[in-house]
Amino acid sequence: MKLLDKVCVVTGGTSGIGLAVVRLFAQHGATQVVMSLDVDGCDDLRKEAAEAGWPVRVLVGDVGDPAVWEDAMAVAGEVGPVDVLVNNAGYGIQGTVLETSIADWEALFKTNTAGVFLGCRAVLPQMVTRGSGSIVNVSSVAGQIGMSRRAAYCASKAAVVGLTRAMAVDHAKDGIRVNAVAPGTTDSPYFDKIAADVADPTVYRRYLAGRQLMDRLADPQEIAQAVLFLASDAASFATGSVVTVDGGMSVV
Ligand SMILES: NC(=O)c1ccc[n+]([C@@H]2O[C@H](COP(=O)([O-])OP(=O)(O)OC[C@H]3O[C@@H](n4cnc5c(N)ncnc54)[C@H](O)[C@@H]3O)[C@@H](O)[C@H]2O)c1
Repeated sequence: MKLLDKVCVVTGGTSGIGLAVVRLFAQHGATQVVMSLDVDGCDDLRKEAAEAGWPVRVLVGDVGDPAVWEDAMAVAGEVGPVDVLVNNAGYGIQGTVLETSIADWEALFKTNTAGVFLGCRAVLPQMVTRGSGSIVNVSSVAGQIGMSRRAAYCASKAAVVGLTRAMAVDHAKDGIRVNAVAPGTTDSPYFDKIAADVADPTVYRRYLAGRQLMDRLADPQEIAQAVLFLASDAASFATGSVVTVDGGMSVV
């Protein structure tokens, strides 16, 4: 029970990595506020939490909208001050710089980067006042290496790494740890959507798996374990770290 009596806010917690985080955090005793754009996913999570008896409040909202963070903090205020924030909501787009429209670039940065900034702005004041807190940002291996036709995505996730390190520097004195996880290719609904659009989904999945030294995709639970470690007191000496969980993708 690594998160017993802790109030945790998790974004994008209705699918893939975020849902695995919510389930794992629940098993570790967390009280959670989950925010996601996915209305049906929010309904499903409400049902799952009610059946399992997990203390989880679920909110439909866009992490890129400052007003939504006011709502989230009001909901969190009903259960207590926030101990942990997991900025997980995000998505990817394909394309070189020349293939990426300005609108797509701005929309991606609004979610992947501004969403992280806004989440941190929302929880930091009370963390500073209490002199404790743990923030875990979900970046990507794409934030650490160059990848073909992922210009905007690589840039948005590298920005998350920069923000993580800068915040670690600014808030170490406040007792707040800020870390990031950099997942490799993870078997989430995100890839189901992409695979649905390609000529041969099986061949595409083989290609994705082959990018990892381990020759497979990550299970979302394998990424959630790293998020749990950084979120919890088990990582009490870690701040400004980027924990790469990529099946060896970035070492070659
Ligand atoms: N799947 C991978 O291979 C992989 C690899 C590295 C990093 N990541 C990162 O992990 C995170 C989770 O990805 P996933 O693969 O689980 O994707 P997913 O599509 O399965 O889940 C993403 C979740 O974020 C929510 N979301 C998206 N935009 C949002 C917004 N603006 N406001 C609120 N919620 C929003 C969605 O509703 C969904 O619940 C993302 O940040 C992604 O970039 C994924």
